[in-house]
Amino acid sequence: MSSLDPIPARTLPATARAPGKCILFGEHAVVRGAPELLVAVDLYTQVIVRPSERLRLNADPEALEHNPYLRPALEAAGGGISPLEIRSVSRLPRAAGLGSSAAFIAALSATLAAGHGGMDRGALAQRAFTVERSAQGVGSPGDTSASVAGGYVSLNADANDGEPLWAVSAGEERWEVRRERDPGWVWVVAYSGIPRSTADAVRAVAARLDRPDGPRLLDEFARVAGEGISAVAREDRPEVGRLLGRNQELLREVGVSHPRLEALLEAAGPASEGAKLTGAGRGGSIVALPKPGREVELLRRLARAGAVPFAVRPSTGVELIELDERPSDAEAP
Ligand code: MEV
Repeated sequence: MSSLDPIPARTLPATARAPGKCILFGEHAVVRGAPELLVAVDLYTQVIVRPSERLRLNADPEALEHNPYLRPALEAAGGGISPLEIRSVSRLPRAAGLGSSAAFIAALSATLAAGHGGMDRGALAQRAFTVERSAQGVGSPGDTSASVAGGYVSLNADANDGEPLWAVSAGEERWEVRRERDPGWVWVVAYSGIPRSTADAVRAVAARLDRPDGPRLLDEFARVAGEGISAVAREDRPEVGRLLGRNQELLREVGVSHPRLEALLEAAGPASEGAKLTGAGRGGSIVALPKPGREVELLRRLARAGAVPFAVRPSTGVELIELDERPSDAEAP
C-alpha cells in the first residue's frame, strides 16, 4: 500500500495506472494552508504511450487543443511535443470530485518519466502538481500527491501525525505531504451526476474566505481537519462520523454544497456514521463512512437516491504495469 519505490526506466511502449482520490477532510481550506486528509481509492486511470508518427490522444490528433493537461505534461517530461500515440482509459467519472484529472496526469507523467530514465516519487509528485496547476491556475497538490503516493495522505498536518513524504511548492506556496495510518476501513463514495469545475469552485471559496469572517471559518476548517486526521489514525469511527458532519456544515457555509448533494447526504444518514461532500463541491460526489455491516444498505440507499455509488478501498500509488494488462473500461479523461 505504501510502496514508494521510484518509477523505473522503461523503453516505450509503456503503460501506467494511477488511482483517483477521495478527500475526507479539509478540501478548499487546504489551498490556504489548512490541513487536509485524502485517501487514494481503487478506481484507476490507465495510460498507454507508444512511439508514433504523430501526436494523438485517444485517436484525437487535435488533443493539444482539447486536453489542457497534455501540453504541460509533455513539456515537463523534457521531450517537447513528441509524436506519441497515447491511450487513456478510466473507471473514474470526470469532473466528479474523485481525482480523474490528477490520475490522468500522474499516469501520463509516470509513463513519460519511465521513457526518460525513471524518476523519484517526490519529484513526480511535484511534476504532476505543476502540470495540474499550469492548466487549472489554482489549487493544492493534494489530489496529485495522493495519486502518486497511494494510501492515506495528509497535507499541512501536525508534525506529530504520520510520516513526512515530500514537500510540493508553487512559487512562494509550499505544502508538506505526509503518510497517514490506514485504519483498514471501506468507504462509500457516490457521484451525483452533476459535473462541476474545480477551478471555479476554488475561486468562489477564495472570495468567500476573503470576507471579514473568513479567518474564523478557516480556523474552524483547520481544527476539524486536524481532529479528523487524529480520529482516523486512532480508528474512532463515531468521532470521524461526527467530524465529517461538521466539515460538511462548513462547506455548506462557504457555498459549495448543492441540493442534490444534500439529498444524497440525507439518504446516506441511517446507514452511515457520517458523510460530507468530497472534492470541490457544487455538484460532484459525497463520501460516507458506512456503519459496520451496513455497507450494502448504504450503497442501495445512494443508488435509490439517484447517485452512482462505489465501495472504495485504499489503493497503491501510480505504478507501471505490464503492457499485456489491457484496460477494459471507458475512455478518459
Ligand atoms: C479539489 O479536489 C480539492 C480542492 O481543495 C482544490 C485543491 O485542493 O486543489 C477544492
